Parts: sequence; structure tokens; C-alpha cells
Amino acid sequence: MDVNRSTKIAESCILVIFGATGDLTARKLVPALYNLAREGLLPAHFACVGFARRPKSNEDFRNEMLEAVNNFSRSKPVDQQLWKTFKEQLYYHQSEFHEDEGYERLNAFLHQLDSQMGTKGNRVFYLSVQPSYFPTIVEKLSQHHLIYPVDSVKDKWSRIIIEKPFGRDFESAKQLQQDLIKHLDESQIYRIDHYLGKETVQNLLVLRFSNPIFESVWNNRHIDNIQITVGEEIGIGTRGRFWEEAGMLRDIVQNHMMQLLTLVAMEPPTNLGANAIRDEKVKVLESIRPIPLHSIDEVVIRGQYGPGFINGEPVKGYRQEENVNPESNIETFVAMQLSIDNWRWVDVPFYLRAGKRLPKRATEIAITFKRAPGYLFEGAASQIDPNVLVIRIQPDEGVSLKFNCKVPALDTVQPVKMDFRYGSYFGSAPPEAYERLICDCMAGDNTLFARDDEVITSWKLLTPILEHWEATPPKEFPNYASGTWGPEEAESLLQRQGRHWRLI
Ligand code: BG6
Repeated sequence: MDVNRSTKIAESCILVIFGATGDLTARKLVPALYNLAREGLLPAHFACVGFARRPKSNEDFRNEMLEAVNNFSRSKPVDQQLWKTFKEQLYYHQSEFHEDEGYERLNAFLHQLDSQMGTKGNRVFYLSVQPSYFPTIVEKLSQHHLIYPVDSVKDKWSRIIIEKPFGRDFESAKQLQQDLIKHLDESQIYRIDHYLGKETVQNLLVLRFSNPIFESVWNNRHIDNIQITVGEEIGIGTRGRFWEEAGMLRDIVQNHMMQLLTLVAMEPPTNLGANAIRDEKVKVLESIRPIPLHSIDEVVIRGQYGPGFINGEPVKGYRQEENVNPESNIETFVAMQLSIDNWRWVDVPFYLRAGKRLPKRATEIAITFKRAPGYLFEGAASQIDPNVLVIRIQPDEGVSLKFNCKVPALDTVQPVKMDFRYGSYFGSAPPEAYERLICDCMAGDNTLFARDDEVITSWKLLTPILEHWEATPPKEFPNYASGTWGPEEAESLLQRQGRHWRLI
């Protein structure tokens, strides 16, 4: 990871977005490109081509994208002067994903753009489409010489970006990887996990490895337990169809949570290069103790939200959402305990929980240290609170440290908090994850993208849980009301071990 963003130069290229009429293009991708342009981070020679099935003119596409930027950009209002030049770099290409003729036309069009815009034959193909299209699109791109073999073509490059899910279990993840590497080298594949583009997630390595005060206590001698929470107030919204095929373990745990876990638990890399960092992350995943079949129900808790209240407003249960089976057994909540079998972490439980329709949107990592021996301060040791370091990923991004203090004029001890907040310290809003990630791909840096072995190792760990759940349908779904912190079993999981989830 190059921590100094200004040294990273996006190279001249054309970005082709497959699925350009979809939600992601309007909400994230084009607003990100616009903001990169605003900050002078887009390459001087650049064009973006939207590839989709609906007929549309360049002008229609540009107008729709203006509306999208107006609605979803982090910087508003749209700078009219900048938009005038930016929109000239946007084009639309209509084609089916499987038709050769469409790729032939695309190839000719991209060559024409190269001479017009000076984009040097470099290509990024962003596959913002259902994963079932990935193999077809990659095959067609290869057949039509739109992606170049890395070992024989040296004067220009081609890369693809894919969005999760990367498979739906261990076998399908391996299959997807095989389909991709028939045509691509691993160095050309950029698997987006947008959590890695978040500033607060990138800061994890800086926090850990540039501050000896933290790194020297970052182990089982000093840490009692680590809790990672990804809480969302929102339900599944209009994504019923997708969600019925996915569920929380696939949607958040396998990717975003595993990324957070590996960054917290990894050993220092030998350098900040992409492979050095990813090698260490894979070692963590490989050290996670597989959960034996007979303990799955004990240490992995699943939940589904029922009706309830969010911010005082009544909301539907999962089974009443649009496009959801009224008897669905899909989980919208997961809490689990993992153990990492290595010298640093043996005996430190990692507790993970992720849920929809929880009382708050909050993603955080809480590191609870062991208690000080209590004999010096009157009363039981349990009255002295442990130190807790909380890394708030979002919202209210920051880091806080709880420690004990003498209450003035009294002989009692009370926990107090030191708090660092990005917003008040650095002022400006951090860039959106997609800005950073698209820019990194155009610069050829894949540090903040998931490597094949990271994806496959985490599927290997989680697939037995999915299989077990499929074989043993839950008896009491829905088992938590919207607006609560999940099913009671999630609380009991920690209580049994004399702990509790941190109050957020
Ligand atoms: C996506 C999931 O990957 O991440 C969504 O598919 C989830 O279900 C979203 O809501 C959360 O992202 P963020 O950036 O809001 O934490």
C-alpha cells in the first residue's frame, strides 16, 4: 500500500464499464470519476465507455450521468465548467454481452478513441454485471483481442475489475478463478472489496505498524478479545432477489469482515508492496482454526429480522420484504467466534457480528485489553475496567482509547476516553472508496484488491457453515426484532465466556 496517494499516477487509458445502465455506475462509478477529475487525478488522456444492452445515444448517457453526479457526488453542486470537459470523455456503446459483433464494433471504436484521445491502447474493463456474465464477457474480450496477454504484449496493458460475489462457495469460487485465468494473468484481475478503499481501513496498517505503543501490546499477552461489528440500520431494501441468493455470511462476512480481520491480525509485511501485504493476510486466513461441524451451532449464530422499529418508525420484517419468500430461511445477521492458531493470537477470541436492521449504522473494531491486577485499588479487580481501543471505521470515523483515571477529590477509579476524530482533525471529507480503487487500478497498483488465494481461503473456511445451515433449517426465524442488536443467542455466545458485546 502506497500511503502517499499523491505519488500514484493513473496512466492514460480507456475505462469500459459493462452494465453502464445499472445502479452502481450511477451511484458510485461515474461520481467517482467526476471527483477524480475535480481533484486532477484522472489521467490527462482518458475516456470512459459505458457498455450496456439498452439503446442509447452518447448524449442520453451523458445527461443521465449528469443527473447521477448531481444526486450522488460527494461534492455538490456540479461544477458546470468542469462538467463540460468531463462529459466529452463519456461515450455509450450498445451491445449484448454475448454477441461477437458488439465486441468487434467495440474494438474498432476503442482504436478510434485511442487516436482521438491519446489513450495508448490501455484498457480497464469494469464488470459491473451479474457474476454469471463474468466468464462470457472475459472470453469475448479475449477472443476479440481486447485483453492482451501480459507475457507477449509489453507496450500497452489491459486489466479487469470485478465486483463481488466472487463465487458463492468454495467450489464455485475455484471455478470462477479457473474461468478467469484461462484468459487473464492474476496481475490483470482487480477484485473490488470497497471496504479496502475506505480511508479508515487503510489506516489500520499505519496505526498498527507506525506506532510502537500499539504494536508492542498487539498480542495474546495483553489482549483479551477482539470484536468486529458491521452494523447497518437499513434492511435489504429493493434487493430481495439478490438477498434470497446471498445472505449475510456471503454478502458481508466472507469479504468485508474477513478483510478487517486479516488487517487487524496480520504480521508486519516485509514492505508495503501488494504481494507482501496480501501474503500476510493469507497467512492469517490459513491460521484460522476450522470450526468442527459439531460446534457450528454453538459458535456461529444466525438471525433474521422480524418487524420492529428503526428510529421510532415501524419497519417490515425480512419475510415481508419485496421479492422475498414469506418462509425464507436466509440470514440477515451473523455472529461468530473465530480463533487464530498462531503464536500471536492463540487464546484470543475474535468475535464477529454483522447485521441488517440493527439499531445503528456502525462499523468498528474494538480491542479489549486484559485487566490490570486489582489488588492496588480497593475492591475487586473486576471493578477496574479494561483498556479498550476502538477503531471506528464508519460513521464518525476515528480512534478512541479508554483508560482509567482517578476521580478528582475522591479515591475512586473511573474509565475515561481519549478520542481522535478524522472529521475535526483533518477537516475535509475523505475520498470515496471507489475513487481510490479506480485510480489505483489505472495506476496498476492492486494492493487494495483481493487476491485469488484470499478469496478462496476464506470460502474454504466458511463453506462448511453454509452447508450445515442448508442441511439444518433454522427453527425460529425471524429471531430478532428490527431495531435490536440481533438474537439473544448472540449475546449468550459471549456471556458463556464471561464477556459481552461492546455497547455501541
Ligand atoms: C455491500 C453489501 O457490499 O456493502 C451491502 O452488498 C452493504 O449489503 C454494503 O449494505 C455496506 O457498505 P458500506 O460502505 O455502507 O458499509
